Amino acid sequence: MANRMLRIDPTDHVFILTGAGVSAESGIPTFRGAGGLWRNYRIEEVASPYAWERDPGLVWEFYSMRRRVAGDAKPNPAHFVLAKLEEAIGDRLFLCTQNVDGLHERAGSRRVIHMHGELFKSRCDRCSRSPFADEKTYEPPAEIPLCECGGRIRPHICWFGEMPFEMEKIFTALEKCSMFVAIGTSGVVEPAASFVAHVRGRALTAYVGPEEPANRSAFDECYMGAAGELLPKLFVVEQRTRRAGG
Ligand code: OAD
Repeated sequence: MANRMLRIDPTDHVFILTGAGVSAESGIPTFRGAGGLWRNYRIEEVASPYAWERDPGLVWEFYSMRRRVAGDAKPNPAHFVLAKLEEAIGDRLFLCTQNVDGLHERAGSRRVIHMHGELFKSRCDRCSRSPFADEKTYEPPAEIPLCECGGRIRPHICWFGEMPFEMEKIFTALEKCSMFVAIGTSGVVEPAASFVAHVRGRALTAYVGPEEPANRSAFDECYMGAAGELLPKLFVVEQRTRRAGG
């Protein structure tokens, strides 16, 4: 298993989907599986439009805590390998993350699709003002921050029941990819969990993580282990297309 590698040919387009497991070795707890954080909170109770209507103070308390945890964390080898891969193959890499922590960028990745939003951005829940950089924490008894229009400022996060961001770009990249690699994601949250089924049969599909994901059967290959340990040895970037029999 340790010697298996994913060879990227010059014609390959690689779609990488990352999940919470990629940041686990940076000390950011995952949502599911052993050691999940956000254990004291039921994620559905703090990450939905319903939660925002019912108790915006609790929602900001949760995201303020996550801003603090992510702000203190540092990228790990898995993030750095993916940044290096972008350097090596440029826009033939499409890096799509469900993570909101910003660690891919802090490792040097330049083109990252944040399908679930970004922790260090906020937006108005009423007007069309663009999401803006925001590192502040808003914890009770702090007031819920307000927009100039009178709307409330909320985290720029895709909550349960909301449409993930950048779906058009994502499906274009899925159509184009010849290799699909999911890393550190449990394969239960849609629509990301179904991306692999969408490309299966026309792209090589691989999973990297310590446990089999719920959608394991859709992957051709499964590399079992921690992303920070496996990724530094996983990818081989070929400079020339390998010929059959060559
Ligand atoms: P999960 O918490 O559901 O799954 C994390 C996965 O990472 C598990 O399958 C673990 O086995 C794996 N894992 C743990 N340590 C790892 C390591 N060192 N290396 C590699 N993998 C490791 O996280 P996601 O699948 O990302 O959505 O969750 C998807 C979405 O659910 C999140 O984006 C979030 C949550 O609700 C929103 O907030 C909208």
